[in-house]
Amino acid sequence: MSRHDVRGLSLWRGQGQELLAPGLDHRKADRAATLGQPQARTLVGVSNAAVGSSRLRMDHALRGRKAPSFADDVRTSLWDVPKWLPSKYFYDERGSELFERICTLPEYYLTSTEAQILRGAASEIVAEASMGEDLVLVELGSGSSRKTQTLIAALLAAQGRLLYVPIDISPTILHQAAERLLAAYPTLRIVGKAMEHEQGLAALSLEQQGPKLVLFLGSSLGNYEPADSERFLREIRRHLGPQDHLLLGADLCHDPAVLEAAYDDPTGVTALFNKNLLERINRELGGRFSTESFDHLAFFSPEKVRVEMHLRSRIDQQVPIEAIGEVVRFSAGETIHTENCYKYTREQLTTLAEVCGFAQVTSWSDPPDRFSVQLLRPRGASLR
Ligand SMILES: C[S@@+](CC[C@H](N)C(=O)[O-])C[C@H]1O[C@@H](n2cnc3c(N)ncnc32)[C@H](O)[C@@H]1O
Repeated sequence: MSRHDVRGLSLWRGQGQELLAPGLDHRKADRAATLGQPQARTLVGVSNAAVGSSRLRMDHALRGRKAPSFADDVRTSLWDVPKWLPSKYFYDERGSELFERICTLPEYYLTSTEAQILRGAASEIVAEASMGEDLVLVELGSGSSRKTQTLIAALLAAQGRLLYVPIDISPTILHQAAERLLAAYPTLRIVGKAMEHEQGLAALSLEQQGPKLVLFLGSSLGNYEPADSERFLREIRRHLGPQDHLLLGADLCHDPAVLEAAYDDPTGVTALFNKNLLERINRELGGRFSTESFDHLAFFSPEKVRVEMHLRSRIDQQVPIEAIGEVVRFSAGETIHTENCYKYTREQLTTLAEVCGFAQVTSWSDPPDRFSVQLLRPRGASLR
């Protein structure tokens, strides 16, 4: 890895990485990555406005030749029976903005509850995970990193400096978060990874020595099918050394009315977020969806113990998608399944962690028991 100075911006550069020229819009990289265009494969850089850019490096995903593109995934899932779309495509620039608005809604208690738990537990988490050594803070699906600021501040207070490695599929939200954090914390360094979790974890294993605290917050685990959540937790475990810790935030199963309201707010922000998937297909793949002809649907399934989100066609309709060269047909009432959000009991979370090779160090929940945060360490790792 070598260091480069470009018009006063100091950057690191390594194999498979390139610098974005100052002023080159990272949103173009975002869109190119979605379309699978070649320039998205090697872009690594910082935006022109990066504050304290000598403290920032951004790595973008290297797309393998065989990795499915957005068009491939839409072709697979919208022509499946029943129809569905992968929820990771919610998070383009507009989707990330809408998710930020969801996080401020009173109905979406997940964010405020987890933030409150983190505020109360930050110094304990830092003391338990660091045991006196400097930690690297890693976050999977970091989004705006707003809740993470509590931990960043606690770690900076304990160790004076910090390397933060946020991993997120959305380059735009990563850049925005990095600029805000670097302006707020002069001794913070950030290596952002605009890529999927698995790729970020693999890159991290090659780069980072020393104890790590890995965050997986916001109940993102609940978006995985049960077998996949187990597989993914094992994958995280595989990348952790004996000194590392995982902080896992997950939503608990409770009052179905409260759960449903969290995904179907009266102001309709979650509906806009859901429908943005169709708008994204329009913008990026030349789709002709009319969002008015779909309803947002969110309900709790007691059998599956999950909230399901769907888009339900109001009418019989045919929608061309130019980039796919096909027309997708809907009958009135037919739905596209867009997301699952599994809910857990605290006992299930403890068992899941154990099965995946972790031991629980401590866990916290809010007084009505709606949300849980667990600090885990690799099982068999000796306490230092
Ligand atoms: C539900 S939001 C949670 C954001 C934040 N962690 C929080 O708790 O508020 C999920 C985040 O994960 C990112 N994401 C979704 N799927 C991903 C994937 N497969 N790999 C990496 N990031 C992903 C999204 O861009 C989004 O920022």
